[in-house]
Amino acid sequence: MNILGIESSCDETAAAVYGDDGLKSNIIASQTIHERFGGVVPELASRAHQETIWLTVQQALNEANMDMDDIDVIAVTHGPGLMGALLVGLSFAKGLSISYNKPLIGVNHIDAHVYANFIDETPEFPFLGLIVSGGHTQIIYAEKPFKHKILGQTRDDAAGEAFDKIGKILQLPYPAGPHIDKLSQTGDIHFHKFPQALLEDGFEFSFSGLKTSALYYINDIPEEEQESFLKEHLNDISASVSHAITEVLIKKLGKAIKKTHARTVILAGGVSANSMLRQKAQKMAKKHNVNLYYPKLVYCTDNAAMIAVTGYLKAQRQLFDDIRIKPFASLSDVVKTR
Ligand code: KG4
Ligand code: ZN
Repeated sequence: MNILGIESSCDETAAAVYGDDGLKSNIIASQTIHERFGGVVPELASRAHQETIWLTVQQALNEANMDMDDIDVIAVTHGPGLMGALLVGLSFAKGLSISYNKPLIGVNHIDAHVYANFIDETPEFPFLGLIVSGGHTQIIYAEKPFKHKILGQTRDDAAGEAFDKIGKILQLPYPAGPHIDKLSQTGDIHFHKFPQALLEDGFEFSFSGLKTSALYYINDIPEEEQESFLKEHLNDISASVSHAITEVLIKKLGKAIKKTHARTVILAGGVSANSMLRQKAQKMAKKHNVNLYYPKLVYCTDNAAMIAVTGYLKAQRQLFDDIRIKPFASLSDVVKTR
């Protein structure tokens, strides 16, 4: 069985093929047009998806040495994400499904980040998942495939969003997460104590206070000294910020392990590429004696390999969708439309 996966929920146009013996191709066309705006511009994202989607799918088929006749199922992200961007991938996938008479599977983008862990490995169920991306921060408990319970999520900003927004304050390019990660590696985590919110309070997160605190911290420095201060201490501030974000994530995850007695933990989403988070997760896994999984770096941020592998796992369970499947912008929308 070969699955063509298509992803277009945000600013990555991506296509991949996953088959019985693993991943056969993985193409990502990242949209650089948003850099100058310091964030993703939805309308520009939709247009860029339209321009590149056919070429991206063709490249994925070429790299897998296949054509559409070799594909058994088309899997496509149908949410959450930017509505216009989702519509491009979903409409394209529907077109392929009708013209080549192939079944269609809608993939939840957040589930796909989780199942990115199944591209190269096979984590055991039940597992606890820490999903940390630019749009979401959740701790889930997955009893069996596609049966996930959300134990807690963010009340405001997502972890990746916190990295990106604080990065903007520090005048770093968008997305700032990877830059802050790199700078942190030579910085002092104790240089400044940023707030770690909601540590005692269930499994929910809040990162907006941290963002405000970073803004005040920089604004309190006299304007004429800001540039030289940032130049000298960007790595220390980055390390202190990374420490604050990852401490909250890891402490909550540790608490969830204690509560659920899970023996397997997975990390997922763009922020799971973060080196400090990975180090702390490894330490925590050792302490609690749990098996820890995280995807290869290239499968952490948005890609279609994760869509194709999720499609594969759904197809094995006959979880196909109707051609009338709708896109959804947020998780609450999917509940409303069900
Ligand atoms: O999963 P993803 O590609 O997109 C969403 O579904 O949101 O995540 C993107 C987020 C961005 O906020 C980016 O700054 C963050 O992941 N990110 C990182 C790192 N790599 C990507 N954050 C911290 N450290 C990293 N190494
Ligand atoms: Zn994502």
